[in-house]
Amino acid sequence: MRNPQLNGHGELQHLLSLDGLPKSVLTAILDTAEPFTEVAEREVKKLPLLRGKSVFNVFFENSTRTRTTFEIAAKRLSADVINLNVATSSTKKGETLLDTVDNLCAMQADMFVVRHESSGAPYLIADHLHNTARHHIHVVNAGDGRHAHPTQGLLDMFTIRHYKKEFHNLVVAIVGDVLHSRVARSQIAALTTLGVPEVRVIAPKTLLPTDVERMGVRVFHDMQAGLKDVDVVMMLRLQNERMNGALLPSPQEFFKVWGLTAEKLAEARADAIVMHPGPMNRGVEIDSAVADGGQAVILPQVTFGIAVRMAVMSMLAGS
Ligand code: CP
Repeated sequence: MRNPQLNGHGELQHLLSLDGLPKSVLTAILDTAEPFTEVAEREVKKLPLLRGKSVFNVFFENSTRTRTTFEIAAKRLSADVINLNVATSSTKKGETLLDTVDNLCAMQADMFVVRHESSGAPYLIADHLHNTARHHIHVVNAGDGRHAHPTQGLLDMFTIRHYKKEFHNLVVAIVGDVLHSRVARSQIAALTTLGVPEVRVIAPKTLLPTDVERMGVRVFHDMQAGLKDVDVVMMLRLQNERMNGALLPSPQEFFKVWGLTAEKLAEARADAIVMHPGPMNRGVEIDSAVADGGQAVILPQVTFGIAVRMAVMSMLAGS
């Protein structure tokens, strides 16, 4: 079957998911991102790799970090960046997603960065481009429903490698609302592909997919046991917007049992790092003392996101 992410030469054509991408591709993206972190230190923060290319940010869901860092990354690569304001676009008059795409293609788009509430929307666009022989246009998934958020997964791997150097000796815990989290799915795919020997998920049963063990993780329903001796704690936001019905008693009750406090973090290794993809709900999944504490690397994650997104875009469309 055709892998929509790879072209006929086995090169990255689109970035839609980390599932099924080989370790060599993930490592190549992380390695490519490495020198891009230094561009931020320069007086002129520009490289010509996407000069003349038009990158369209098409976000059907809210975003602070992803949309902005994609824009910064594309601009640092000298691309022209167009942010489609979906709220005031003609999608509100009933135009379909693919008609919108066709119209943006008619404006000479070279790349779409797409966030959509429906799982699979970026695949639909990639298939449409393939079926209409527009092979020079690339799609990057910036988060689709509860399915995948590949660049978040990659920037998380970049952050872990930055602080921990290797993947093969780590115990990593992902904590919270795994069920509704596209971030968790991308993190699990990347961590297992990159050779992390023990990936734990810590959550109440109501916030775990039924087949979670098939993803290659160890399941814990107790914070203290799950956090014991871990090297990396990856917190997740409660995705209230994707919950149907009452899966939890209340945010206060959730915090009492599942919220990351300094006391619970003390179970982890003394040099453990604490990550969160954002946006954070302080006092729900994480205590402010931890979020702002010495072990948190939450803001560096955001900064690394620029270099990682530069790497992805330059590998897809760079000259
Ligand atoms: N991590 C993340 O996707 O954040 P935004 O929703 O702000 O883009």
